[in-house]
Amino acid sequence: MTTKHIACIGAGYVGGPTMAVIAMKCPQYRVTVADTNTSRIAAWLTDALPIYEPGLLEVVQAARGRNLFFTTDIAGAIREAEIIFVSVNTPTKTFGDGAGKAADLQYWEKVAREILREARTDKIVIEKSTLPVKTAQIMETILNAEGGRLHFEVISNPEFLAEGTAVRDLLHPNRVLIGSRETTRGLIARQEIVDIYANWVPAGRIVTSNVWSAELSKLVANAFLAQRISSINSISALCEKTDANIREVAHAVGMDERIGNRFLNASVGFGGSCFKKDILNLVYICESYGLSEIARYWEAVLTMNEYQEQRFVRTMIREMFNTMVGKRIALFGFAFKADTSDTRESPAIYVGRKLLEEKAVVVITDPRALENARLDFAGVDGRIHFAEDPYDAARGAHAVALLTEWELYRSLSWEDIYQSMEKPAFVFDGRNILDHKRLHEIGFNVYPLGAPPLTHFHDRGARRGGSSGY
Ligand code: UDX
Ligand code: UDX
Repeated sequence: MTTKHIACIGAGYVGGPTMAVIAMKCPQYRVTVADTNTSRIAAWLTDALPIYEPGLLEVVQAARGRNLFFTTDIAGAIREAEIIFVSVNTPTKTFGDGAGKAADLQYWEKVAREILREARTDKIVIEKSTLPVKTAQIMETILNAEGGRLHFEVISNPEFLAEGTAVRDLLHPNRVLIGSRETTRGLIARQEIVDIYANWVPAGRIVTSNVWSAELSKLVANAFLAQRISSINSISALCEKTDANIREVAHAVGMDERIGNRFLNASVGFGGSCFKKDILNLVYICESYGLSEIARYWEAVLTMNEYQEQRFVRTMIREMFNTMVGKRIALFGFAFKADTSDTRESPAIYVGRKLLEEKAVVVITDPRALENARLDFAGVDGRIHFAEDPYDAARGAHAVALLTEWELYRSLSWEDIYQSMEKPAFVFDGRNILDHKRLHEIGFNVYPLGAPPLTHFHDRGARRGGSSGY
């Protein structure tokens, strides 16, 4: 059997783990991951990988040097490969037409032109990055600009992995989606990609479609997931006013099989590189087709998320006697979710900034994301500190705000933390993972999300407009 060559341009959170799993599962393919970022590539070649993902190092070690290679030689990787995955970032545009909404496709187009320049043989080019629907058509136009010297078939194979569970999601995907043109050449290319995944994914989980459906499905899947979080977060605000408890409501509602129980955890807000960007993208696309009602509908998911972040900080300020000046606030967790070092769009960034604006002293602790947190606050004055150890972060603090659902925070000695803090001591649980009743018994004033606070004050209920406040 001849070895097939796969290249992937973009060695980030998506490209790196996806190619590592393909290489591990398909020893008959030679997989080369290329990136312009030299330090990132250097890190992929060590055991200190550039991203933290549970189980990833073992997968990389199984294939690296055997049939998995990392390089900055993008041109060489393109020339060798028959199949090229493109997984470069597609951030929201920050300038010009569509700023703040449309996807910035400059990196994608640059890669397409590089492929065109370097290619000496026909290629299958796969969109791994999330892109606006109809991008494949633009890519085909660029790739075929030289009038048919070579043939490029563009396939959409969006990635549904979630950070923190990337390896598990790649090994056992709910589905793999492969969209192609429905021409003879398109269908042959589609089959080539199906054949890769068929090495470990059951046939029933490999779904094929036309290329536009595949592109759009990715945006829609993320929009639906984010919408569930905004829906439950909207109800959390109502629970806080009515003595209902969001955990009980989510449990009762989620037991309906038609609704399902996943993605119903109320939180300080969703973060991550995808949800906001993809919804903005969806909104922009709807607007550009004149579908303004549809655009407004999806935009509300983002508005609700911003409201939830703002509400969290406002509650802190109001309950801490309307001033934060000079108060030390420990942020427990900074990653946008547990089990990742990624802080992109993390609600913790918003919370940290707002508290600094209020002239608080902010101490950030996180088991994996401190390095990124430091970058997020680069250039900020001396009122921000970083602590590896949560006990150090909490010492002398007036409040703890829990912002990432790291398992370790459940099993801390909260008695010791209480002893070391200023009194009255506050806990604001932005992920609803702590044992609120127990914290209250220790002496904390506890503010869950979507449930009445458990305080040791006696005048609080009246201030919240009717809730008993315990
Ligand atoms: C990216 C996109 O953001 C997302 O839309 C898509 O779904 C998957 O790819 P991610 O892997 O998380 O997600 O991005 P990032 O970690 O930023 O990785 C992108 C990599 O591409 C970076 O390492 C960057 O150096 C590289 N890159 C970017 C290139 O090699 N060449 C370029 O021209 C631009
Ligand atoms: C998401 C999609 O899940 C994935 O399929 C897609 O490929 C990329 O975008 P990711 O951003 O890595 O993945 O994480 P996800 O688990 O979806 O969480 C996103 C955000 O929502 C996190 O901030 C998380 O804490 C939050 N969240 C999630 C909640 O607030 N409540 C929930 O019930 C679930």
